[in-house]
Amino acid sequence: MQSLRFISIGLAILSFGIMMTAWAQTAPSPADLGKLITQDAEVIKTSLAKPKVDKKAQSKIRLAAFLIAHYAQSSIVKDSPKAGSLATLRDRALGIVKAVDDGKLDEAKKLAESLSPDVAADPGVKVAPVALEKHLDLESVMKAFSSVRMAGLGLENHMDDLANFTGPVEAADAEKIQASAQKIAMIALLANFYAPPKDAAKTKKLWTALNKEMYTTALELAEAAKTKQGAAISKIAQKLTTEKVGTVCTRCHDVFR
Ligand code: HEC
Repeated sequence: MQSLRFISIGLAILSFGIMMTAWAQTAPSPADLGKLITQDAEVIKTSLAKPKVDKKAQSKIRLAAFLIAHYAQSSIVKDSPKAGSLATLRDRALGIVKAVDDGKLDEAKKLAESLSPDVAADPGVKVAPVALEKHLDLESVMKAFSSVRMAGLGLENHMDDLANFTGPVEAADAEKIQASAQKIAMIALLANFYAPPKDAAKTKKLWTALNKEMYTTALELAEAAKTKQGAAISKIAQKLTTEKVGTVCTRCHDVFR
């Protein structure tokens, strides 16, 4: 229940008009973000180690690196002793996005060696947030939901499987569900940076509301996995697939896609 309390505090802060940081500071915890970083760093290293890094592999590497930059930036607490390391991690991850864009895979490999929240801070690193949305487009971010075969991270397939979940919740399942759910929550935060232009005020409002709903639902799923509530898992996962009409995913796609 503790994280649910944090969410409601987060949303209360949000309604006072403080933007994304309020969401990011609530959950996932730094430890959980550390796990997500390790997971996506593994995706990058495995993809870069293949003899041929084709276009699909490149887009997956860019996406995983971009997500790491986002996890790292979201974890930065100003004036904390870890801020410099996290900002360094963010900058290296964004360096990978750029290196792959420029076809410099050797450079990407080198940067991939130090993708850890404990990396030594670069002297002179700037901890202030950078505009992530300038480094990768929304279509590439949404690829996280696409199947692994389509160069995605398979998140939607995982939700589809969970929608039919009948339990019991084994420890290994719980870890995987938590990781996917937390990743979706982080993507909801990220997606909010891609809101439609200001002149369409109503549309931006809807965009934000849908992302908030995706965020909250994903964290509910993470909580259900953590506390091993088998029956709740499929119910919540059903809200995070495009197989059903009326899910948060399809409601957004109907309007914006
Ligand atoms: C706030 C709005 C919004 C929400 C919520 C949302 N999406 Fe999307 N999604 C989009 C938009 C917009 C695109 C099209 C992006 C483009 O092509 O530029 C898209 C594209 C996609 C794609 C295609 C990626 C590709 O290969 O081009 C998939 C898959 C996807 N979304 C899955 C999901 C799933 C699953 C969920 C729910 C867990 C979800 N989306 C929630 C807005 C949203």
